[in-house]
Amino acid sequence: MASIQKVGIIGAGAMGQGIAQIAAQANLQVYLFDVNEVAVSKAQEQLAAIWARQVERGRMSQEQVQAAQAQIKACSQLEDMAEADLVIEAIVENLAVKQEVFKQLEALVRSDCILASNTSSLSITAIAQACAQPERVAGFHFFNPVPLMKVVEVIEGLRTAPTTCEALVEVAQRMGHTPVRAKDMPGFIVNHAGRPMNIEGLKIAQEQVTDFATVDAIMREQAGFRMGPFELLDLTALDVSHPVMESIYNQFYHEPRFRPSPITAVRHAGGMYGRKTGQGFYRYVDGQKQLPEPTSLPELQSGLKVWVLPHHAEGYARVTELLTRLGVAIDESEDAPEDALIVITPYGEDVATVVANFGLDAQRTIALDTAFGLEAGRRRVVMRSILTADAWTSQALALLGSDQTPVSLIEDSAGFVAQRLVASIVNGACDIAQQGIATAADIDTAVSLGLGYPHGGPLSLGDHLGGELVLEILQSMHYVTGDMRYRPSLWLQRRVQLNTSLRTSR
Ligand code: NAI
Repeated sequence: MASIQKVGIIGAGAMGQGIAQIAAQANLQVYLFDVNEVAVSKAQEQLAAIWARQVERGRMSQEQVQAAQAQIKACSQLEDMAEADLVIEAIVENLAVKQEVFKQLEALVRSDCILASNTSSLSITAIAQACAQPERVAGFHFFNPVPLMKVVEVIEGLRTAPTTCEALVEVAQRMGHTPVRAKDMPGFIVNHAGRPMNIEGLKIAQEQVTDFATVDAIMREQAGFRMGPFELLDLTALDVSHPVMESIYNQFYHEPRFRPSPITAVRHAGGMYGRKTGQGFYRYVDGQKQLPEPTSLPELQSGLKVWVLPHHAEGYARVTELLTRLGVAIDESEDAPEDALIVITPYGEDVATVVANFGLDAQRTIALDTAFGLEAGRRRVVMRSILTADAWTSQALALLGSDQTPVSLIEDSAGFVAQRLVASIVNGACDIAQQGIATAADIDTAVSLGLGYPHGGPLSLGDHLGGELVLEILQSMHYVTGDMRYRPSLWLQRRVQLNTSLRTSR
């Protein structure tokens, strides 16, 4: 087939408008249709306003805007799609309605016209089932806002012809987007890979490890993410994300990794959707997130004696290096002296387990998360047991903040906050690779562009932290909690066993 020039777009809502914008800017002829005619004229008005701002900011010339505007033809009937080389459907998320539209389209368009759906949660194979030529049907899943989210998933249904996907890959590139290929599985790549951050964040909150704002601060300032789970949930809004969490869980037949949280069920029922309702996990006043006042750190007493449990070689090396930098003499006795603060550096274990296994004094024991490094400025996370005395906790906080680095105190948790969130994210991506839903490279690209995760995507992030440490965190979390959601992915386990990158495939 000759390359795509004429693109029909069905549905002129948020997504249809965005797709129309990038298609027109790429000099494609756009036919825009909506059952609601007002939606088409509204989309055109909004595009005119967006383009006017682009001119003001010097990002587009007046001529470019005029050319783009001239590419969009408002359509009042589905029959206007007859000329199209590609039709992209972006209507209501309802299988029966989409199938009906695809069936009608097939009767109108040429036999080599590609039919694509922007669905985020329905099966492409199921949509194509209504068509006489399912080989020309594929998923073309853009993200909101389309012009800024520069990635698009090209989804192959069971009957989709490879040439259909290849044509979509090519036109995506012409529209300035990065295409990634995915199989027709629930959540495709990005919405699948994005599950662990939300779900593990909610599990942490449910266990009373710490408050929402602290989880977010740790994910940003310790683990280097742009946003934590609760900021993200407030942005996407619970009326959207709570049903998605339930839907993915059900579509994977109650896979424990996707088990949703009753926390969002209650908040959803109470209309606390997020930013758009002024109240979500945070309260918003005039669009501004309200945060609690930061608490000041206690005074560090001179002569604090510190003993570090040498149970974990990597953690021990990192913490002793830090304490030396902070000017603290580490007591090197074989057992902890009676007057010393006891520091442990667990990977996936909680304080109670380490205290019990090594016969430590729980009142004097605190854990420090060393997995992400301990350089000055990177938030440090201190975890206490249910028996750790306040005086010892205060001294640990004072010591670890003595170089002006922010410190968070959390309650006992298998894997602190960042270890368990990041290990779950890496593990989830490994499972996507193991199921062949996408290549390792496409998983990293899709997630880094679609979700903004650091280090070039979750598999590269796992390599950066060290696959062996990620595996150890998961194995410990699994052992301590008994929860199947933490069982390591075979993809991860085999690559660690064979000492190779998490991006290695056959
Ligand atoms: P929207 O509600 O903003 O727009 C949908 C438009 O489709 C409306 O203007 C409606 O009048 C029109 N429509 C409904 N039934 C129609 C029909 N039978 N024929 C023609 N037009 C019809 O919805 P939005 O957000 O643009 O979503 C559209 C699709 O894109 C859905 O499948 C959604 O799951 C998917 N999607 C949405 C994302 C988002 O963040 N909003 C992200 C990625 C995919």
